[in-house]
Amino acid sequence: MSTPAVAPLLLHVVGARPNFPKAAPVLAALREHPVRQLLVHTGQHYDAQLSEVFFDELGLPRPDVDLGVGSGSHATQTAAVMVALEQVFAEHRPSMVVVYGDVNSTVAAALVAAKLHIPVAHVEAGLRSGDRTMPEEVNRLVTDRISDLLLATSADAVAHLHREGVDPATVHLVGNPMIDTVLRHVHQLDPARIATLRGVLEQTDPRYVAATVHRPGNVDDPDDTRPLVAALHAVADQVPVVLPLHPRGRAGLTRAGLLEHGGITVLEPLGYLDFLSLVQGAAAVVTDSGGVQEETTALGVPCLTLRPSTERPVTISEGTNRLVTRERLADEVSRVLADGRPAPGSTPVPPLWDGHAGPRIAEVLARALGVG
Ligand code: UD1
Ligand code: UDP
Repeated sequence: MSTPAVAPLLLHVVGARPNFPKAAPVLAALREHPVRQLLVHTGQHYDAQLSEVFFDELGLPRPDVDLGVGSGSHATQTAAVMVALEQVFAEHRPSMVVVYGDVNSTVAAALVAAKLHIPVAHVEAGLRSGDRTMPEEVNRLVTDRISDLLLATSADAVAHLHREGVDPATVHLVGNPMIDTVLRHVHQLDPARIATLRGVLEQTDPRYVAATVHRPGNVDDPDDTRPLVAALHAVADQVPVVLPLHPRGRAGLTRAGLLEHGGITVLEPLGYLDFLSLVQGAAAVVTDSGGVQEETTALGVPCLTLRPSTERPVTISEGTNRLVTRERLADEVSRVLADGRPAPGSTPVPPLWDGHAGPRIAEVLARALGVG
């Protein structure tokens, strides 16, 4: 096929913290192809520690367009992204829109593009928790349904898409770009990076648990925050807990008494390299994050996920993850502490989580645009 006279324009939409480590390797790999790229930030996340720090650390280009939509209810936020993006797409007329993960910005961008008959590529397609009370599950289902290219991180995601009846020709198992980012930066990880953070290292050395919580099902309702805080306190009875806290959980968990245990150090959200350094040095990680389940698998750090289900079961079958209830958390931590950290390289990692997902995705996109 001959190369078009004007290089096709790929428009990437990002908006929230987990989007950035997924998009960085894709944008980088596409620089090797004859395409033009435009990066749009919706502004869903706007605090420096949830957004700007990733641009500084991951080599992501500064956004060409920042929509600045900010926070709001699901409908308000999704609608604001849609209205603003419709103008951007009309102005730039991209050949394809690339969306990442499962946040509100993802589904909003996919909807606008589909209505304008612009092909949509979804990076991280096919993940399913089976739990539609999670806003992300609704976003995943809708985004996959209207996307033209489905780029999957694992075989179970491909199987979900096949089961849902999508055209198999649109599905590509490409591996996990989030792991490209981990592997690209692993040599920069260093517990010394976090030593300056309020003496955390002195308090926590040699063993500590790193924790993150921000899912609505854990942090929004007092009926959930009370038992969650009790569970974290029970962990802190055994081992220091370092908890960089997403703004979503801050007020509710504080009201539920989180800070009333001297063994818990609550921090602002950390930058990517600080956070992964904290994870790498931890005896175990306790989390309800999606991405952190994957990163702990890549780094071989035991992960206890405070959720009833996961859209990333491959991190259990071929990784270091395990689902736990709040009631069982302290016992599970004590078991992990007794076992000690697994020897480096001794835990499994899913196929194609090898640092080369970005180039694979770029090839699929370039081929689809007739320049690969
Ligand atoms: C969003 C994603 C979630 C992802 C999380 C990653 C959806 C539906 N949810 O959840 O999948 O795991 O991001 O971090 O898209 N806030 C700030 N500063 C900011 C951004 C938000 O203080 O820069 C506060 C605001 O009070 C806001 C609240 O956090 O109302 C929630 O933000 P929002 O983007 O709506 O959802 P997240 O809980 O961050
Ligand atoms: N992360 C970070 N600082 C923190 C907590 C998380 O940089 O204090 C990173 C983490 O390494 C991963 C991403 O944020 O790359 C995951 O985002 P989050 O947990 O907010 O969203 P989810 O993956 O649950 O959608």
